[in-house]
Amino acid sequence: MCGIVGYIGPKSIESVLLVGLQKLEYRGYDSAGMAVMNSGEMVTRKAVGKIAELEKQLKNQPLIGNTGIAHTRWATHGEPSMINAHPHLNSQRNIAVVHNGIFENYAKLKAELIDDGFVFLSETDTEVAPHLMEKYIEEGFAPDEAFVRMLKRVEGQYALAAITEKEERKIYFARKGSPLIVARGNNEFLIASDIPAVVPIAHEAIYLDDNQWGYITEKGISIFDLSGGEVTPQWEPVSVSVEDVEKGDFEYLMLKEIYEQPDVFERVFKQRVDDAFIHFPELKFGKEYLARVGRILIQACGTSLNAGMIGRMYLEQYAHISAETDYSSEWRYRNPLASGDSLVVGISQSGETADTLAGVREAKAKFMRVLSFLNNINSTMARESDAMIHLMAGQEIGVASTKAFTAQVLNLLFFSLYVGSIKWLLPAEERREVLNEILALPEKMRSILKNHDRIKQIAEFLKDKNDTIFLGRTYNYPSALEGALKLKEISYIHASGYAGGEFKHGPLALVSDNVPVVIIAPQGDIRGKMISNLKEAQSRKGTIISIITEGDEEIKKESDYYIEIPPCMESISPLLVAIPLQLLAYYTAIARGCDVDRPRNLAKSVTVE
Ligand code: AGP
Repeated sequence: MCGIVGYIGPKSIESVLLVGLQKLEYRGYDSAGMAVMNSGEMVTRKAVGKIAELEKQLKNQPLIGNTGIAHTRWATHGEPSMINAHPHLNSQRNIAVVHNGIFENYAKLKAELIDDGFVFLSETDTEVAPHLMEKYIEEGFAPDEAFVRMLKRVEGQYALAAITEKEERKIYFARKGSPLIVARGNNEFLIASDIPAVVPIAHEAIYLDDNQWGYITEKGISIFDLSGGEVTPQWEPVSVSVEDVEKGDFEYLMLKEIYEQPDVFERVFKQRVDDAFIHFPELKFGKEYLARVGRILIQACGTSLNAGMIGRMYLEQYAHISAETDYSSEWRYRNPLASGDSLVVGISQSGETADTLAGVREAKAKFMRVLSFLNNINSTMARESDAMIHLMAGQEIGVASTKAFTAQVLNLLFFSLYVGSIKWLLPAEERREVLNEILALPEKMRSILKNHDRIKQIAEFLKDKNDTIFLGRTYNYPSALEGALKLKEISYIHASGYAGGEFKHGPLALVSDNVPVVIIAPQGDIRGKMISNLKEAQSRKGTIISIITEGDEEIKKESDYYIEIPPCMESISPLLVAIPLQLLAYYTAIARGCDVDRPRNLAKSVTVE
């Protein structure tokens, strides 16, 4: 949500800022802008809509300089418009600020500044920042001090960058609650909301902590805490490559990420499995502690919660631990009860989701221990959790989560097998049997991906529908939720997932000849019950799209469309079922002409509540 890029160095400022913004497009935005020190003068360009609009403007009115900041805005306070687009300037137009987050006390600050005679142009909370800086500079403070004074006045969360005409070769930055990194290339420095924006240039980066501020100049970087103490920069190599953040030969990043899943699994196997034993080298909890955990409370949002719901079943089945799941946004406010043997598990691709992070903080405030399953190991959640498990999915950029979802389920499965073994409650033979099934997954995934043409045909049928129902049971009930979430977020077709057993208790009323029903019925204990669901839908003229195990002639005959997955153990079938569901959503969205990597109204990482 919102993206920030800042650059100081010898390269073309326009190109660096534009490429940086493009690499942050996945975060979601509805307007874009930049401010550059152009021969000692502050110059801005803004555009509503896509970055391409900003690029057009720059073609007509280029910017020259070596210090600049840029922003993609995802509207919170005020509609997407030229006036509300960042950067925001002070009245004298010599200070520019870009901001990600929310200043919760902006209304009070704005009223105070208006009383002081400052004139506001936008509806945004951000605009208080340049006016506050101007106020302190007018009072005689140097820009550094004015920046810090401004930081001390604003409440809420932010990642910020500012430039001033007074210090034209300096970019100020600060972080509290929203991610921000500083990076360096060859005699050049950058700041950005996330690593993809700096990948083409930088070889090292610093992941800032909350309440740190500082500035970059052509010569280097200075970081301070809010009380003025200097912080020693901790540089880390940038491990993400240009190929990781580009779509290569694929039409969309989402498709590339879907196809990467077998490779992600093989990468995870290399780290986790060795001679039928499972390893978690990064896990800071000892075996004695894990063996004593009596209850696990999983809190997450969206796709990560769907993965958590499958994980809950693994924890019960293989680790013999009672587990429950909840939306982070509910969990954090419902005063959850927990005893000393409870462990809170947060699941997040980004590690920056505001609600999940707040859930982590809530747990810690209640003296509960927190384990997080994270793809971004430099994230705020990674720092604030007591222990972490790395998903190892690689950089995920597509707004619709795909490879992170299957990596979440896989790592939850490994974790459950690991804890079950520690507790001596999972027989070695059973563990081996499940492991053998897991190790066979990449090849099975590849065979599903090869058969994508069949799914394309179904997408052609689905593309003209307004509603779709997804049904699954036990391990595949969360698959139904995830299939529905994928379809609605990128194709904008209304879709809902239900537990098959609940179908007759209400959702059945929705079925008609215009409402397709996706029946997830791989081989296993619940297949028979799913056939009953199929019949219920069929008798109401619903078109049946089934996901079945290869060669299931009985269900094939009953279905209007079917997608086959290779045979596998029922408990791990969600890891195969996920792929046709992702492809179905993808091809349906493509058939409807949707921009799948930039779905309307959505942001990759939801960093505000
Ligand atoms: C998934 O396709 C979504 N875009 C969304 O539900 C996402 O999973 C959710 O916002 C949680 O994100 P996180 O994993 O980064 O915490």
